[in-house]
Amino acid sequence: MTHGQLATKRRITQGRGFTLWLTGLSGAGKSTLATAVADELRRGGVRVETLDGDEVRQNLSKGLGFSREDRDTNIRRIGYVAKLLTRNGVVVISAAISPYRAVRNDVRREIGAFVEVHVKASLEECVRRDTKGLYARALAGEIAQFTGVSDPYEEPLAPELVIDTEREDVATSATRVIDRLLELDYLRGGPDA
Ligand code: ADX
Repeated sequence: MTHGQLATKRRITQGRGFTLWLTGLSGAGKSTLATAVADELRRGGVRVETLDGDEVRQNLSKGLGFSREDRDTNIRRIGYVAKLLTRNGVVVISAAISPYRAVRNDVRREIGAFVEVHVKASLEECVRRDTKGLYARALAGEIAQFTGVSDPYEEPLAPELVIDTEREDVATSATRVIDRLLELDYLRGGPDA
């Protein structure tokens, strides 16, 4: 090891593969957090792949709707790809609502190296943000089966971490996720200088 290295920031390095599974309401901040965590990991040279709900639904899950059956199929597909990548040492970040506990737990069992993070904001806050304008339409009855409005969201009972995006900013949240991953021994990193 060289001495006198710039050590103002901790350096995160690759450990084994694992899947970081973000679950939460639409607009809670899953994609934003996924991007922030992925950026931080890539800075350390970690191989990261993000599977984002909106993007997956335009590709791998094109044509699926929002019935329980279709959502479960979507989640199983994401879980399957995540498993393949995870076992090849990649860090996978999933950012899909994944509203049903049972299928999340199935995916957890399949993957093994699985860290579930509840990205939490109240429904009122998500409606207030309404980043995609979908809550207004759902509340007006124009979109059926909308999570949190006219469709269930089952909170995780024992997530590895809960991130409250109403109380903390994205940088703080990303740091808390990385801290938890270090604690769980999924990542390695030197201490803050
Ligand atoms: S999941 O339930 O199958 O995990 P996913 O995360 O892939 O959902 O997709 C959710 C995204 O689809 C939302 O962020 C929103 O942009 C859009 N969407 C469209 N219709 C619905 C709906 N009925 N319920 C939830 N999200 C919807």
